[in-house]
Amino acid sequence: MNHFDYRDGALHAEDVALKDIAEAVGTPFYCYSTATIERHYRVFTAAFADAPATVCYSLKANSNLAVVRTLAELGAGADVVSGGELRRALAAGVPAERIVFSGVGKTRDEMALGLDAAILQFNVESVAELDALSELAAAAGARAPVALRINPDVDARTHGKITTGTRATKFGIPIAQAPAAAARAATLPAVDLVGLAVHIGSQLTDLAPFEAAFGRMADLARTLRADGHAIERLDLGGGLGIRYTDETPPDPEAYAAVAKRAVSGLGCRLLLEPGRVLVGNAGVLVTRVLDVKEAGGHTFVVVDAAMNDLLRPALYDAQHAIEPVTEPLPEAARAPVDVVGPVCESADSFTKNRPLPPVAAGDLLAIRTAGAYGAVMASSYNARPLTPEVLVKGSAYAVVRRRPSFDETVAAEHMPDWLVETPGRAPGRATVGRRGAA
Ligand code: LLP
Repeated sequence: MNHFDYRDGALHAEDVALKDIAEAVGTPFYCYSTATIERHYRVFTAAFADAPATVCYSLKANSNLAVVRTLAELGAGADVVSGGELRRALAAGVPAERIVFSGVGKTRDEMALGLDAAILQFNVESVAELDALSELAAAAGARAPVALRINPDVDARTHGKITTGTRATKFGIPIAQAPAAAARAATLPAVDLVGLAVHIGSQLTDLAPFEAAFGRMADLARTLRADGHAIERLDLGGGLGIRYTDETPPDPEAYAAVAKRAVSGLGCRLLLEPGRVLVGNAGVLVTRVLDVKEAGGHTFVVVDAAMNDLLRPALYDAQHAIEPVTEPLPEAARAPVDVVGPVCESADSFTKNRPLPPVAAGDLLAIRTAGAYGAVMASSYNARPLTPEVLVKGSAYAVVRRRPSFDETVAAEHMPDWLVETPGRAPGRATVGRRGAA
């Protein structure tokens, strides 16, 4: 369910025609629908309404401040994996007591930031991290609430690059080492072991791996309690998949039923870290066709968005639905095309041999389901400016991240003093590490 529909032959985000935004903002741009984000959040939280659960939106999916704020206003907490995400969550108004700090490697500065903000919980991924956190907390006169992130050795049966719960991945503490890690935590002066955390992967379309992983966590919670540890919280991570083209993911209700069944009787508070399922189909990437050309038996539709704007197809072979912004006639014949970007890599392709209605240079296309892991994974490769982001609410829209100017994109770069400053560019000189500097 989402709020991107054709109205009078024009694709709209809620009540706003995407072509009107394209006129005003230029292409490419991301466009998010508030009503869709709100709906997904409500459906997800409703599925856990009869359990003591906190939904911590996983910022890595989309950390635009306006998107995070939209969710924070609904009561969402946050799952963050870096100091940057932590600061974004706080800046967007997520209360510190609803923020979980996950992540396979945290710097001391990042841990200090979390301690300083007095966040809900650190999900700790190694004994060394436990030690460091305790040391920092003790020095600050604080206490660090921690959950052990466990690697349950369960195959999520999703794309290999987004599988995180099998033994050979870098994530978490191997489940067999959990009792020793808990014992260690109990000896440390400034950490409080409050729970366990697990996240086995992303874009799961099958409930069985969740069931297996949650079951192992429940068993481990019982074991650790028997060892004398107060395991009060279970963070079940994120990972629920969504439909890009023809996937049939379980709905949040079914997912929640599996989670609740697995932990029933434990009396634990649940933490959930959904990302994609909240924002994925609340976003589209709108792009303009630059050229249509035939070569080697293929029809290439060259668009002005590229792999730097939306990396998922290049990195995971992801297939996003692509629709013309002007509704095609029902009888329009569909012919297979490759939709490609202008970046100088063969991987810069959004789809191959996809049947699309006829498109011509100048037409607008919407690449669907781009609200999660789209803008956040963008780069400025090929010196392309970062794509702007637009948020729609009803008949209103706002540019929530503008396209940077060329001057802004080079503002942080400086010429070393052995190179002559280019005429016409504002002078900027590298000063750090200058030979002979005092
Ligand atoms: N919690 C943890 C500890 C995670 O590592 C992740 C995602 C989530 C929660 C949120 O998972 P979600 O509900 O969104 O599946 N860039 C990839 C996805 C990477 C996911 C990384 N971790 C993609 O575009 O498919």
